[in-house]
Amino acid sequence: MNLTINIDHIATLREARGGVDPDPVTAAHLAELAGARGIVCHLREDRRHINDRDLRLLRETVKTKLDMEMAATEEIVKIAIETLPDLATLVPEKRQELTTEGGLDVRGNRHHLRDVIGELHRHDIRVSLFLDPVREQIAAARDVEADTVEIHTGEYANARTDAGRAELLEVVRGAARYARELGMTVNAGHGLNYINIIPFSTIAEIEEVSIGHAVIARAVLVGMRRAVGDMLALLPRG
Ligand code: PXP
Repeated sequence: MNLTINIDHIATLREARGGVDPDPVTAAHLAELAGARGIVCHLREDRRHINDRDLRLLRETVKTKLDMEMAATEEIVKIAIETLPDLATLVPEKRQELTTEGGLDVRGNRHHLRDVIGELHRHDIRVSLFLDPVREQIAAARDVEADTVEIHTGEYANARTDAGRAELLEVVRGAARYARELGMTVNAGHGLNYINIIPFSTIAEIEEVSIGHAVIARAVLVGMRRAVGDMLALLPRG
């Protein structure tokens, strides 16, 4: 199972001060050096974290695979075609949300999604659809000619009991199997962390997991000792 790293939160931290640090492009490079098999970024309509400059530089510098998460809007599709990511992951997007909430309603948006996917395919961009683990949505993804589905793991990740989590893992497994039977590749993501990822390794149909928050949060904490030490080394001994 491959790991792709979502670097949006590095950009969120940069935007907190409106400066240039920390740079998500540098973080992407370090993630690749550490073994990530791809870099994911979400160019939102409101540019709250990743911006157009980041996307341009990531396209120039990412050596593994660039997965551009995006809403299927005219403006962003145009930017995707100019950027040519290795994968475009279409997600629903709401301005007020803290993070992506829920999967796409492919069944209710077949015509629009078929057009957008066709347009991206004409430019040789593979397309993934971010979906809840629901059979009808997965079948609809095949109908609109998606190459890949990314299964939304939020409900699994948020399960409050072991029994609930075990049940939701089987829901994800069933969805992954079904998508594979229909000939699509399967990714998964949202809310995965250092604990709930462990049972995931048993889902052979999942090719790739996309993880952001848990890895960036851990990076901040495991880096704290070193960062404080580096600053102390610059001060006269008190
Ligand atoms: N996949 C998709 C489609 C997402 O929108 C996100 C969140 O940006 C992720 C994966 C990663 O989720 P998390 O940050 O919770 O690991």
